[in-house]
Amino acid sequence: MSYVDEYTKRTPKCAAEYERARKLIPGGVGSAIQFKAPYPLYLADSRGSRVWDLDGNEYIDYSLCYAAMVAGHANPIIAEAIRKQADHGTLYGMPTTLASDLAEEVMRRYPKVIDMIRFTQSGVEATQTAIRLARAATGRKTIVKIEGSYHGGTDHLLVSTGGAPKEEWGSDDSPNSTADSAGLLPASTEFTAVVQFNDIDGMRAAFDHHDGDVAGVIIEPAMTNGGVIPPKSGYLEAVRKLTQDEGAVLIFDEVKVGCRIAEGGAVELFGVKPDLVTLAKAIGGGVPVGAFGGKRELMELVTPLGPMVHFGTYNANPLGMAAGLACLTKVMTRDRYEEMTRLATRVADGQRKIVGALGIPACVTQVTTLGGILFTPDEPSNFREAAKCDAARWEDYWFGMLSNGVIPMGSAWFEEWSISAAHTDDDVDRTLEVTEDVLRTIYAA
Ligand SMILES: Cc1ncc(COP(=O)(O)O)c(C=O)c1O
Repeated sequence: MSYVDEYTKRTPKCAAEYERARKLIPGGVGSAIQFKAPYPLYLADSRGSRVWDLDGNEYIDYSLCYAAMVAGHANPIIAEAIRKQADHGTLYGMPTTLASDLAEEVMRRYPKVIDMIRFTQSGVEATQTAIRLARAATGRKTIVKIEGSYHGGTDHLLVSTGGAPKEEWGSDDSPNSTADSAGLLPASTEFTAVVQFNDIDGMRAAFDHHDGDVAGVIIEPAMTNGGVIPPKSGYLEAVRKLTQDEGAVLIFDEVKVGCRIAEGGAVELFGVKPDLVTLAKAIGGGVPVGAFGGKRELMELVTPLGPMVHFGTYNANPLGMAAGLACLTKVMTRDRYEEMTRLATRVADGQRKIVGALGIPACVTQVTTLGGILFTPDEPSNFREAAKCDAARWEDYWFGMLSNGVIPMGSAWFEEWSISAAHTDDDVDRTLEVTEDVLRTIYAA
């Protein structure tokens, strides 16, 4: 029986729910990434490192809502903070001390980088507002982004995220700006220049091409949405220097890695200081919260201090602030990151050992508490190299792992696996056992 057949045999209630949901909701899912043929897994419960589907199947979860659930599922400390706040109200549309408390905690983690911060409801609002702020600050139009990087589904950044057919990608040194959705205006691609990760010459060429018009560069300091790809030594420093020399705003999109790959995210880990940082996921403790923050002179351009408008009914809502505060101050202490990195290193080393022993053309990458496995032999330095991943093998891997009680990573080959504060050595032992079985089976076929 194939792994997909095993999946359908084990999940009849999920199949039935899909039949109901797909008539109500496009694809039966809240976000396109949640869809997976033949039908997605519908979840009923979660705790710690585990989730349960409607059919009662238990899984060790390394997707963790695309790395957001850094404290683990239903963390009791965060649940208590949410309950306590819920008793006092969930939305006021008026400021609270909780937002200042969370702002102070985030700023403590990003010293001399985040002087001021504004909370949003999601990562995409943080990135779309950050690029607006870069344009407002410079009076320029063009934003430079990295090919294969995802910064949320906003029109100007739904460009060259990897969705277009390969024939449309353009040359290696000067990738095309491809529209990744119907309904985008031509301005989205016209004013979004695309370069490859780890290619400073390409970025310099983009600045030359858009002479004097680059408002900012938005970059994931370590890629996590086009394969997990760490920056080459000196690359981020070179990006910093180039943007500084050119008077462009450097935005680190730390929605996924912020307060996750280190207490102070990528800024702490790589030691390069951007002008703006976008955050979400970890800072909300599992409740929808995002943020953009950075240099005071930029943040003072935000309304009501300056001319760049930023609104949101749900911004800095007390529920999200309470959950985020509990997560960052009570769960994600400095020693937690060390422990989570130790476990992540066990996963990565274990995967590498299995791949080596079985002689499989695959590679494993790791950035402290998260990592990736790609079914291509060479470690990628950019999205094009990562996209050599054998996607069909990856599908087998996904369903094989699911059939053995492990959600191995986010639900696409270009996603990451991540460790939460709730994962244990036993989880890792079991995961590696299953990985070996599944990879052996797939590559024997
Ligand atoms: C790097 C990065 N930026 C932005 C986003 C968009 O965040 P959200 O889904 O909260 O809108 C994501 C989502 O995964 C992300 O990984």
